[in-house]
Amino acid sequence: MSKPVYVLGGPNLNLLGTREPEIYGRDTLEDIYARLRSQPGAAGIVTRQTNSEGELVSWVQEAGREASALILNAAAYTHTSIALHDALKTLKIPTIEVHLSNPAAREAFRRVNYVAPVATATIAGLGAFGYELALTAALRLSGQEES
Ligand code: DQA
Repeated sequence: MSKPVYVLGGPNLNLLGTREPEIYGRDTLEDIYARLRSQPGAAGIVTRQTNSEGELVSWVQEAGREASALILNAAAYTHTSIALHDALKTLKIPTIEVHLSNPAAREAFRRVNYVAPVATATIAGLGAFGYELALTAALRLSGQEES
């Protein structure tokens, strides 16, 4: 049995659906995660969200032990967390960074990014569809999908 893909979300993503829908869309995080779970080859993926930086760091460490690949939307911690950067740097599995919006096209403070330099790839600005692309990439990169 291959290891699962971990899909981790950071602060305020629990408010998706009602939080600035003109930027983040109307899907809830559970809508997005449910669609991922129904994607071919996705059985057993682990989907979580936390508002706590420490918990997110612990989950990244856990992914390093238990996951075949990591999909991470660190939300605002993307722009602030050296702890998260350091944890990601220890990983030997593919790590796909996802953002619903395109932070590079928004406020200047969102151009600071501690995740991208230690991620395999970044998908941003495609809304919830970005998660589906990230899962396809994660399965491919971790050798769980043929084509
Ligand atoms: C976000 C972008 C971040 O800048 C922001 O802090 C978020 C969501 C996104 O998915 O577009 O909370 O990660």
